[in-house]
Amino acid sequence: MTNSCHICGLGSYVPPKILTNRDLEKLVDTSDEWIMSRTGIRQRHILDSGVNASDAALVAARAALTDAGVSAGELTHIFVATCSPDYFCPSTACLVAGRLGLSARSEGHGAHVMCMDFNAACSGFLYGLELARSALSLRPDAVVLLIGAEALSRRIDFSDRSTCVLFGDGAGAVVLRGAGTGCLWRVRDSVCCADGSMHDLIVMGGGSAMEVKKGDALPDDFFLAMQGREVFRQAVRSMTAESLAMLERHGMQVSDIDLFIAHQANLRIIEAVGSRLGIAEDKVFINVQDYANTSAATLPLALDDARSQGRLKPGMKVLLATFGGGITWGAALLG
Ligand code: ACO
Repeated sequence: MTNSCHICGLGSYVPPKILTNRDLEKLVDTSDEWIMSRTGIRQRHILDSGVNASDAALVAARAALTDAGVSAGELTHIFVATCSPDYFCPSTACLVAGRLGLSARSEGHGAHVMCMDFNAACSGFLYGLELARSALSLRPDAVVLLIGAEALSRRIDFSDRSTCVLFGDGAGAVVLRGAGTGCLWRVRDSVCCADGSMHDLIVMGGGSAMEVKKGDALPDDFFLAMQGREVFRQAVRSMTAESLAMLERHGMQVSDIDLFIAHQANLRIIEAVGSRLGIAEDKVFINVQDYANTSAATLPLALDDARSQGRLKPGMKVLLATFGGGITWGAALLG
């Protein structure tokens, strides 16, 4: 594969409504102390009723397009990584495209754009980087909008304390294109992995395996269920192994990395991976305390936050690692 895939714009969005640990204490038998000590999460942002994943995606997308100096009409691909799309059909990507004004009905025929959603759960954004690299190797003039967007609060059982404290809503987006001016980071490499034999570790129903008929009550397995301890173990193991393999493939040491961003699911997981890699603490970016686990949105949200905080500058060497349902995982190298 030719390797000319660059992030040239970045944007993110979280809804204004905040659900704190104290708010959750009123819903389930939990405590701020338990949540902070086991997960590092202080609060999460929750979409208001009537506002969906596509709305969050659109705001993040517009910010990324502005940042890249790219007009919506230049886009050739819109990929949305999500496990909580507005609908099974139409795709969230099509909804975003429509609201960006890409319509065959409009003058100038702005609809030559490939739109699709895909689901790699929390690993979605990193899988999307690989998709963008593929699109750009097939078509070097492609302009790809990759969005990670989730409305996980719609698929969480707020009476289940083992999951409801862990997740939040949000979106992040990047614009990717071949080499040129205005590029922030080159996507030097990405690797995506999966082990379907562990599919039962994280399950969110609602697909055709759920045999419901009109009028039935919503079954429990509509909501996300997780085997937390095993997920924790696998997340630490696989993100560490793939990060080290990525560095080795490029003849790099951990000390060559300017910033390490892991999937933001749990502070203890991030710290465990960081310490196994032996990376300096100040090079590990963490924002899980503010957003909780926004699944496919955590990595672009973290990239955008890190840049806003001045911790991420164009051209820096960034190591990304991710883990999610499927199970899926992977790593990527930027810079
Ligand atoms: N408040 C208080 N007590 C709780 C809560 C809560 N919110 N949740 C669980 N507990 C209790 C349990 O009932 C259990 O009690 P018991 O000992 O009396 O049975 C006790 O706390 C310990 O439970 P564990 O599940 O063993 O707690 P653990 O320390 O493993 O932390 C957690 C649980 C936070 C879920 C952790 O396992 C974790 O973060 N796992 C990984 C999650 C993750 O990374 N997900 C990413 C992928 S998600 C995706 O792809 C969509």
